[in-house]
Amino acid sequence: MSCSITLKDLSLSRNGDILFKNVNLSVGHKDKIAVMGPNGAGKTTLLKAIVGLCSLQSGTIEIFHHKLENEDDFRKARGHIGFVFQDSDDQIIAPTVIEEVAFGLLNSRVKPAEAQAQAEAMLSELNIRHLGDRITLHLSGGEKKLVTLASVLVMKPDILLLDEPSAGLDEKSVGQLASILASIDKSMLIVSHDLDFVNRIGARIMFLTRDGLTAD
Ligand SMILES: Nc1ncnc2c1ncn2[C@@H]1O[C@H](COP(=O)(O)OP(=O)(O)OP(=O)(O)O)[C@@H](O)[C@H]1O
Ligand SMILES: [Mg+2]
Repeated sequence: MSCSITLKDLSLSRNGDILFKNVNLSVGHKDKIAVMGPNGAGKTTLLKAIVGLCSLQSGTIEIFHHKLENEDDFRKARGHIGFVFQDSDDQIIAPTVIEEVAFGLLNSRVKPAEAQAQAEAMLSELNIRHLGDRITLHLSGGEKKLVTLASVLVMKPDILLLDEPSAGLDEKSVGQLASILASIDKSMLIVSHDLDFVNRIGARIMFLTRDGLTAD
């Protein structure tokens, strides 16, 4: 199978204790996988490890069949990956919403007028066009989440890592987000506690335990 993400025998310790071990997973090019599990199971840590933000005890990570061995490998891999953090405050950097959503595009040398147009279209798709001129620091929790989703989705990354993307969103926004994610034919790892949401996306459900990722 042609894989976007391959995790082999990952294990990771935190504070001297094993958080998880024997994590194995192959994510195909259009696979959507939901990672569920109790608070503190290590779901966020697992996503962070995939992009090199947490170091492993052992095991290997491959992105598009390239083994990630050093910071340079992870940096290149991050160019293909869109990551929505669990805590939006860790993610937002620009002073206004429209600047936040256009930031990545401008960084990849999209012309300013085009970046503005794409950012506005993405805000409309998530029904938050009215937030465009707002100061990011003053947004509500749910508004911040939608803005970080917009800033990641607008880049059309090859792989999406979404850490509790629906947390804090109202029912209408959850529905909109689920249909957007269901319509994107790309690899996704979605950490969520919301079974209905992951079912609406059509994601395959896996559970993270101390002994690995299991299907039930
Ligand atoms: N930077 C850190 N330093 C030390 N321990 C940490 C750090 N970040 C997380 N932990 C610990 O690692 C464990 C796993 O945390 P993690 O955030 O990965 O859990 P999670 O499965 O995402 O939980 P939740 O569902 O609450 O988001 C927790 O016990 C947490 O306290
Ligand atoms: Mg978490």
